Parts: sequence; structure tokens; C-alpha cells
Amino acid sequence: MIKYKHYNIFGLSEATISHIFETLSNLNENKIQATIVHNVPYNPKLPFAHKNIIHTIISDSKLDYKGIKNCFLGVHRPHVKKQVYNYFENEHEVNPSSYINIVSKHSIVSSTTKMKFGNYICDGTIFSSYVNLASFITISKGCIIGHHTNIGDFCTLNQAVQIAGNCEIGENVSIGMAAKIVDGITIGKNTIIGAGSLVNKNIPEGVVAYGVPAKIIRTSETKL
Ligand SMILES: CC(C)(COP(=O)(O)OP(=O)(O)OC[C@H]1O[C@@H](n2cnc3c(N)ncnc32)[C@H](O)[C@@H]1OP(=O)(O)O)[C@@H](O)C(=O)NCCC(=O)NCCS
Repeated sequence: MIKYKHYNIFGLSEATISHIFETLSNLNENKIQATIVHNVPYNPKLPFAHKNIIHTIISDSKLDYKGIKNCFLGVHRPHVKKQVYNYFENEHEVNPSSYINIVSKHSIVSSTTKMKFGNYICDGTIFSSYVNLASFITISKGCIIGHHTNIGDFCTLNQAVQIAGNCEIGENVSIGMAAKIVDGITIGKNTIIGAGSLVNKNIPEGVVAYGVPAKIIRTSETKL
């Protein structure tokens, strides 16, 4: 008999959800059954095709949330992730213990890496020693995270971001693809770092900064 492992993915975009499926599929010997819960306008024509996956797309009002497990926020942008999290916590009492971490088997995670819950580590990321991840962090493909670096809730690191040792990344920070953060840097919460930037000075909270070296350009408002 075919065995299924079931996940509840709270997601909005097919791009994010399909690579979560890919990662889950590589992690599981059993087939995957996923219930995708969406609470924003959604185009049902977009396929979530994957050979190992059966999925059901339902609206959130149809799911029984009591004791729900194996949940995951399939959302990319920090402030949207936070909104979706708040929605499910406030409306359906889905609490932190319901969320799992998803870590690609193609990433190298040190035994000294600590992470709370709801984090997503895609393929090809390398963690040095003593990295601390808070919750609901997305780390896209091919990132390098240096030793003793702390990353806050809801952050998103896009592809090929490199963070050196002893950095402090505040909550809701978005770091554009291939940005480099040198060692000992602090980035304040709600800040956006542009793609390809070189950050060699501390960046305060609530700003957009980019360039080589990165300069503060404006406030970030809600564009995270
Ligand atoms: C930093 C960022 C958020 C700025 O977005 P924005 O405010 O909409 O900026 P605009 O596109 O209006 O560009 C404004 C100016 O900044 C420049 N600029 C924008 N991003 C830049 C970057 N990362 N590095 C250098 N210059 C940049 C633009 O060339 C433009 O210059 P101009 O006024 O001389 O023409 C965005 O450009 C970025 O880098 N996002 C990350 C993208 C990413 O990693 N995506 C991964 C998705 S999977």
C-alpha cells in the first residue's frame, strides 16, 4: 500500500509552493499529500505538478484546524509571511508548535546550527558553526551563512546571499540575491538590502539600502 505523508501548506504563490514541494519530495521516501490553504485571490489554473505529490487546494474555511500539525508557511516576502502567520494564529489558533522546519538534504547544516520553527532552507546552502535562526526564515538556494550569525523572525535571504561571521540580522529583513554582508555587521529590522550589494557598514532598521558598498537610499515602508 502506498504511504503518504501529509503537510498543510499555507501559501499564496505557485512559484514558492512548487519549490517547497520539490524539497519535501526529495526528503520523503513516502509520497506527499499536501493541503494548500490559501486565503487570497488565487488562479486555480496554475499547476502544482510533481510526480510524487498529491495535493488538494482548499479554502481556509474548509479545514479543521483543531490539533493541526505539519504546517508550513509557503510564503516568500517577510511582511506577507508575517501577515499570513498572524491570520492563522488569530483566526484559527494555529500556534508555533504546529509548524515544522523544512531543510533540504542538499544543504550543509552544522550540528551547532540552532533553529526554532517554520524555517525553510533550500538547496545548496552552507552553514558555518553556531548559526542561530529564529522562526519563519526563508533561505533560498546557494547561500553561505557565517559562524555565530543570528537571523531574526520572518527574514528572507534570496539566492546566493553570503553572510560572514558574527552578523546580526533583525526580524523581517529581506536580502536581495547575491548580496554580501561582511563580518560583524548588524542589519536592523524591516530593512531591505538590494540584490548584489556589498554591506560593509551597519544598516539601521526600516530602510532600503543597496550598491557596492551599500548606501541607504530610502525608508522601506511595507515594500519588504
Ligand atoms: C533594492 C530594491 C528592492 C529596490 O527596488 P525599487 O525601490 O523598486 O528600485 P527601482 O527598481 O525603482 O530602482 C531605483 C534605482 O535604484 C537602482 N537599483 C535598484 N536596485 C539596485 C540594486 N540592487 N543595486 C544597485 N542599484 C539598484 C535602479 O537602477 C534605479 O536607478 P536609477 O534611478 O538610476 O534608474 C530592488 O531593486 C532589489 O534589489 N530587490 C531584490 C531582488 C531580488 O533579489 N529578488 C529575488 C527574487 S527570487
